[in-house]
Amino acid sequence: MVFQPQLRILISHDEIARAVDRLAREIGTDYEDKQPLLIGVLKGSFVFMADLIRQLDLPLEVEFVKVCSYGAEQESSGRIKLVQRLSTPIKGRDVLVIEDIVDTGMTISFVLDYLRKKKPASLKVCALTDKPSRRKVSVCIDYLGFTLPDRFIVGYGLDLDQRFRNLPHIYAVED
Ligand code: PRP
Repeated sequence: MVFQPQLRILISHDEIARAVDRLAREIGTDYEDKQPLLIGVLKGSFVFMADLIRQLDLPLEVEFVKVCSYGAEQESSGRIKLVQRLSTPIKGRDVLVIEDIVDTGMTISFVLDYLRKKKPASLKVCALTDKPSRRKVSVCIDYLGFTLPDRFIVGYGLDLDQRFRNLPHIYAVED
């Protein structure tokens, strides 16, 4: 039988859309006259990134990296591995990394370390959600959608055991 956890809407799709609009305005202003390279961290960022870039009237480009972390299903273990590298040079580029969530901060720190070595002109972070109470590594988030309590969330790209990424809202998984 398929496991059906209880899901409760935490952030509706309308609220998400308003946050995406706001973030796009902030990014659009800061990157005016630039050609930013947006780098999504797969898999979770793909829905957010798809909506965000369509609100950005900039000559931007997109790339992706994919990382995986090992350990418990609902928690990053801190052992992170790059499983899909960049396919283009980023030296001298204005790079904006796109994340769906910053939790412990281990993943984004790992990705930033990887990218920083490639000498971009600038390197910033845009995250849809942040759970600061779970932080293990200090992270600067330049553009943030929502600060969340310590609840496991799914939907809008976020998964539980690879499911629920297709849901339009962000849901808390009830215990
Ligand atoms: C999620 C999310 C972030 C990371 C954040 O990815 O997309 O990349 O966890 O957690 P952290 O701050 O504790 O490192 P996940 O490892 O679940 O993989 P996915 O993106 O493929 O779902």
